[in-house]
Amino acid sequence: MDTREKTFISEDEMTRQEAFMHSVRELNPEGTKKYSINTYGCQMNENDSEKLAGMLEAMGYRQTDKLEDCDLILFNTCCVRENAELKVYGHLGSLKKLKECKPDMVIALCGCMMQQEDVVDHIIKKYRHVDLIFGTHNLHRFPELLYKALNSDKAVADVSSSEGFIAEGVPIRRENGVKAWLTIMYGCNNFCSYCIVPYVRGRERSRKEPDILDEARMLGHQGYKEITLLGQNVNSYGKELKDGSSFAGLLRSLESVEGVERIRFMTSHPKDLSDELILAMRDCKKVCEHLHLPVQAGSDAILKEMNRRYTRDHYFELVNRIREQIPDISLTTDIIVGYPGETDADFEQTLDLIKRVRFDYVYTFLYSRRTGTPAAKEEEQVSEEVMKKRFDALLELQNGIGREINDRMAGKVEEILVEGTSKNNINMLTGRTRTNKIVNFKGGADLIGRLASVRIDKVGTWSMEGSLEREV
Ligand code: 5AD
Ligand code: SF4
Repeated sequence: MDTREKTFISEDEMTRQEAFMHSVRELNPEGTKKYSINTYGCQMNENDSEKLAGMLEAMGYRQTDKLEDCDLILFNTCCVRENAELKVYGHLGSLKKLKECKPDMVIALCGCMMQQEDVVDHIIKKYRHVDLIFGTHNLHRFPELLYKALNSDKAVADVSSSEGFIAEGVPIRRENGVKAWLTIMYGCNNFCSYCIVPYVRGRERSRKEPDILDEARMLGHQGYKEITLLGQNVNSYGKELKDGSSFAGLLRSLESVEGVERIRFMTSHPKDLSDELILAMRDCKKVCEHLHLPVQAGSDAILKEMNRRYTRDHYFELVNRIREQIPDISLTTDIIVGYPGETDADFEQTLDLIKRVRFDYVYTFLYSRRTGTPAAKEEEQVSEEVMKKRFDALLELQNGIGREINDRMAGKVEEILVEGTSKNNINMLTGRTRTNKIVNFKGGADLIGRLASVRIDKVGTWSMEGSLEREV
């Protein structure tokens, strides 16, 4: 068997799952059963939840926000930080009463948390109202597992540790009608010392370019104007396919997909961001002027401890190279404060890096100790008090920088992809600039899903207000 056959789920298996979908559908002939999915964590999980929703709809289930009406409640979990896990436990605990009143209701858990054996053991012992548990590697087997759970008095748990599979052709029900997530690869090979992802998502494996292009073409045809390519480390897309595929090549191929006007991607790793990719970003008109490039820390000592495999100078150089080719690019990053052993001097280096790069936005995280990662074994854990102080200092610095960058946009006319009505004010439309900034403005609902030219009138730290110049 060559590696490709090993990587992709066979058509026979997918046909088997379709048969299970049919069997579950037969248990619900009126198509009246209801479901709700709670998604935690990253966009990858959101995209997985869209597939779970797609499978459920194909089995005759309909989505509802009312938990008491549900026949199935599914938690798609995240374990990247402890607070994501605590939220799941809290939410799960609060469902115990509901399950007592509705014993036939299925409570199911899936996602990254379920790839940890100790977590699954704990849930089976302590949360007896859970009916079904599965992980990230066997998501495509949801119809079979649900069928089993519906026909069993005991909890069904199937957390396959065999990774490396990609399932094509899973039905999908997307949340948004204007922009779509498109997963291009799974897993991560980087083993940053603090991160649990490689242990729960497995090694890097890429979808084949023709499959990605087919999905993108379908999205364009269905009216989606924006796609966001997803992967833990999209810059290394295609490496293991060994057929010449590369992320830069993929961007160039996607450029010709009809209907799609904007292409975004995340996440990029500084060690893999090549000049070839920077040039592709510059040349491809649909690729938006925004790059999310997590730096994680500004001190070389901490970067080394984190196993990031670049230095702060390398990061500065990269930023210069990107800005040379795409001067107006918006840069965002992730930073972890309080990595074990981080001193005041290390943290000063992080603040210094932020001042020098001038990011548009910084996603800041308090370091969270994850059992099983090398960093968890470090003795010099930073106290919570120090971590919080550093977190606040970073936020204050970045808010000022972000605000200054946004202030420069006042009076400019920007291309906005209109996504819908504003959450805070239904009389306003909301959309994003190519640089991913939120802009609210007055306009007719017919603009939703279209591009518009909007003049920025008022700038805030989180969003802006503008007025419609014209439709594009
Ligand atoms: N603690 C805090 N933040 C973390 N991240 C990953 N693992 C941890 C952890 N153990 C952050 C990183 C990553 C983002 C998705 O989550 O900054 O880029
Ligand atoms: Fe985690 Fe590092 Fe992989 Fe990102 S690149 S998922 S931080 S191990």
